[in-house]
Amino acid sequence: MPADAVLHVAGARPNFPKAAPVIRALERHGVAQRLVHTGQHYDERMSEVFFRQLGLPEPDLNLGVGSGSHARQTASVMTGLEELMIVDRPALTVVYGDVNSALAAALVASKLGIPVAHVEAGLRSFDRSMPEEINRVVVDHVSDLLFATSPDAVSHLATEGVAAEKVHLVGNPMIDTLLANLDRFDVAGIQAALSLPERYVVATLHRPGNVDDPTDVVDLVKAMHAVADQLPVILPLHPRGRQHLESAGLLSHRALRVVPPLGYLEFVSLVRGAAVVVTDSGGVQEETTMLGVPCLTLRPNTERPITITHGTNRLVTRSTLAETVASTVAAPRPAAWPTPPLWDGAAGTRIADVISSTLR
Ligand code: UD1
Ligand code: UDP
Repeated sequence: MPADAVLHVAGARPNFPKAAPVIRALERHGVAQRLVHTGQHYDERMSEVFFRQLGLPEPDLNLGVGSGSHARQTASVMTGLEELMIVDRPALTVVYGDVNSALAAALVASKLGIPVAHVEAGLRSFDRSMPEEINRVVVDHVSDLLFATSPDAVSHLATEGVAAEKVHLVGNPMIDTLLANLDRFDVAGIQAALSLPERYVVATLHRPGNVDDPTDVVDLVKAMHAVADQLPVILPLHPRGRQHLESAGLLSHRALRVVPPLGYLEFVSLVRGAAVVVTDSGGVQEETTMLGVPCLTLRPNTERPITITHGTNRLVTRSTLAETVASTVAAPRPAAWPTPPLWDGAAGTRIADVISSTLR
């Protein structure tokens, strides 16, 4: 690896649409780059499809860590990366979001004295029962460059004592990817491929707080069936929730259809045409905000409150979900809405500008 190379570490589905615009913008600066895929996600539909569709470069190395407990998965990424970073010693390591792969990479790099850049810094749900919240806090506090997607994130970092000169409000690289692909989203095509009517609900569910407890999952399935009583529901199901949700009878409603995870272009096309989206995903809250599609987030909190104040997002519970779907579908959609500041498609460029001037 050249001495001035930037090492990107990515490994889970939401990392890929965030990394693509940063890598592309650094290419324009002529910065030497390497990409390590940790292998946290490994199914074709959770990983490879994003590389193909988003034009990401082939990873220079795949650590192949796979699934496991938090400690095992994080430790495997750490030992794999430590070896590589000692030998190759990148000038900077870039980590994305709040997944275990980002935590592991940030810890290894910072202990080796390699500067860390965190893309999507400062988001806080203030809910330490979420593994991601622990990852967010730790990564931010060992990072040297913190790229924030929203002003609230900048405030959280200030409150936690992170030096202001490390923090850059740059906008949202996941939204860069969305805006760059607007012409490729084929709503009619995906509706035809999945034989969907004009009005339908798209759902995604994978948070441990929703799908890991078999008793809670029974109530979740009842709530989803009550949605399917109103409109057909299509649910591209993350592998994490499959077993519990299916055992709780998810598939027994004829208006609720489960499909495997979709490629990025197919998924966002489906979302763009939806009457309502029901989700517990972080990224989907942001994408619906930009697309103006109503989003109901099945969580007690969100680390992305800007999608509520400047977007289409609302928090719901299992008990309020069905009635909120009914009222949302009945309400007229606003023709225009305020979008979050700097969610303009240029976040990757801003990040690359800061990184390349730091490297110089
Ligand atoms: C991870 C992230 C979460 C993110 C989500 C995005 C952490 C702590 N969590 O959660 O923040 O929202 O990715 O999708 O990093 N599995 C497969 N095939 C795969 C990957 C996973 O079958 O390609 C199954 C395995 O049974 C695995 C389970 O999904 O045990 C969970 O995978 P894991 O990466 O541990 O966490 P996610 O729930 O995907
Ligand atoms: N996504 C996808 N196919 C799917 C579900 C989601 O391409 O079947 C995309 C979605 O558009 C967004 C990203 O995956 O870009 C979000 O990832 P996920 O919900 O897994 O993680 P989170 O954002 O919750 O961490």
